[in-house]
Amino acid sequence: MSDRRDFMGKALGAFAGLGALGALYAAKKTWDPLPSVKAAGFTTLDLKDYKEGELVTEMWRGKPIFVMKMTKKMLEKAKAREDSTAKGHKDIERLIKVGNDYYLVCVGLCTHLGCIPGYRPETQDFLCACHGGQYTETADVKKAPPPRGLDIPPFKLNGTKIILGEEGPEYKKMLANGITQRV
Ligand code: FES
Repeated sequence: MSDRRDFMGKALGAFAGLGALGALYAAKKTWDPLPSVKAAGFTTLDLKDYKEGELVTEMWRGKPIFVMKMTKKMLEKAKAREDSTAKGHKDIERLIKVGNDYYLVCVGLCTHLGCIPGYRPETQDFLCACHGGQYTETADVKKAPPPRGLDIPPFKLNGTKIILGEEGPEYKKMLANGITQRV
């Protein structure tokens, strides 16, 4: 009888142990960073995969990253504002140029208090619903309270690929020109 009890006890113990292992594995899966975040916080995107005028939200170090290839009309709008801007930089300088194409790549968190602004395809701009802040199609600030345009993550270009998390010369130039702050 006691042998049987011993056996039952061991079997139950093993079962409980397996359950605990399973729970630990599930918890670890939850804690694990996304695959894109694993490589020391670098995320590589191939810009040739993005369609004109379509906003895609990627993730980098837990932050949403807006990526959009500019249409001809968007570029014309941005250029048309250049003469009237008093910000010390041109809107178009916020964009990343690869070959003949221009891309918006920015952190999708409002520079006011951190809400996620929504893109409005009909007006080709961004609205932050929290306090009504607005951004242009290049994600420069259009209407307060945001104090500045959406920040640009550190990036390095390698052909059509962009590596988020590395600081290449184009990004350093943006920092030096006050187009973005370090995030
Ligand atoms: S958090 Fe966006 S306007 Fe306040």
